[in-house]
Amino acid sequence: MARPSVDTVMREARIVSSTGVREASIAIADGTIVEIGPDETMPAAREEIVLAGATVIPGAIDVHVHFRDPGFPHKEDWTSGTEAAAAGGITTVFEMPNTDPATASVAALTDKIARASAKAVVDFGIYGNVADGNHDALEPMIEAGAAAFKIYMGSDNPLVPAPSDHTILAALDIFARHGMRTTVHAENAAILVGREARLKAAGRTDAAAHLEQHADLAEMEAIQRIALYSRETGAPIHIAHLSSARSIPFIEAAKREGTDLSCETCPHYLTLSTEDGARLGANFLRVKPPVRGPEHKAPLRRALFDGTIDVLSTDHAPHRHTEKNRPVIWDCAPGFPGVETSMRLMLTAVATGELSLERYVAMAAEAPARLFRLAPRKGHIAVGADADIVVLDLDRRERISAARLHSKGNATPFEGMETIGLPVLTMVRGRTVMRAGAIVAPPGTGQRVTMAV
Ligand code: DOR
Ligand code: ZN
Repeated sequence: MARPSVDTVMREARIVSSTGVREASIAIADGTIVEIGPDETMPAAREEIVLAGATVIPGAIDVHVHFRDPGFPHKEDWTSGTEAAAAGGITTVFEMPNTDPATASVAALTDKIARASAKAVVDFGIYGNVADGNHDALEPMIEAGAAAFKIYMGSDNPLVPAPSDHTILAALDIFARHGMRTTVHAENAAILVGREARLKAAGRTDAAAHLEQHADLAEMEAIQRIALYSRETGAPIHIAHLSSARSIPFIEAAKREGTDLSCETCPHYLTLSTEDGARLGANFLRVKPPVRGPEHKAPLRRALFDGTIDVLSTDHAPHRHTEKNRPVIWDCAPGFPGVETSMRLMLTAVATGELSLERYVAMAAEAPARLFRLAPRKGHIAVGADADIVVLDLDRRERISAARLHSKGNATPFEGMETIGLPVLTMVRGRTVMRAGAIVAPPGTGQRVTMAV
């Protein structure tokens, strides 16, 4: 036999992209896909992965995760968070700046990159934060490796206070020059702050008060305002975690008017509604923006599955169980772990025929790669791309159980749900990181992504 000339051959894959299915084998050298073609044409390899017709897709790219490191290691850290991502078929994450310290300076960014480089098992980009007073740090943070920036229009978190409209516009001028897309938490902060004070003064402590505070009016207003700012400055915008069906027409309108605006939603808005409060505890469901009434679910699914909403993210926001289900709604930590359950929840929609696997690949890998300038290295199974590849078992039925998740966020709103379809192998730049649910690569395997220019 000839001396191996490549590292790995994945034999007889059924490769799914947004445009269709191709049956071929994949050769990988130095972390890069070097050949895709008939099995008999593959070079000799040191390692063979016999797929025998199993389905493979590009690793999912999740542009919205909170890994809490530095600041809240009891909730998550770079190892637990990226191990959870790998278990869920996610090969690249973009991590949010609401850590302690917030990622709002070169020093904080450099520290976070060092932590992630030492601890991550999947690739990562780090968000910088836009804050009143850090304008002069934005360019230096881009030079120091920020993957993108976050604007918390609607924030009551003192670590990442909502910046003024003046600050937002000045920041967008900079990002427009760099052609850099900015992710926006689109809620009107004044509405949130005013309503919270009013509701608290009225003695409200119930779960419905959270929904009254975060009325979808606040989301619709902020989407329109940031779309206007985007058109005025030329800065590309990405709307985070769309939560209301009533926001969809504003997304459509902005796109029709030629705004460079993209949008994401998350599995909890697609799968849950306030009705799940009965099962989970209404306070447990707290997330910002909120999971709303049942009438929002089907329109959001439709908009994501037909491409009106571009991207599926998770807003992975892990907390300990004890931090979530408290008697007073204002004391309940908002958010859920998501990276480990997102793909299997969507594969379930594929199994029932509601979603095509081609469209799933588009919204989970190809679109985020294109929008955040990771393509053509990431988001595609193609010669010259990073070998970020996930093998699926499309028939596997299993119930979601928090006890089996890798995240430190030890409570999931999807507990007990039966899913059909599971990622069974996750490869990052040619290295197998997860096999059959087990993490098989050490911390430090993950690398910081660099942008195509
Ligand atoms: O529910 C949420 N949780 N929304 C956010 O915007 C932040 C996140 C968190 O960090 O816990
Ligand atoms: Zn978030």
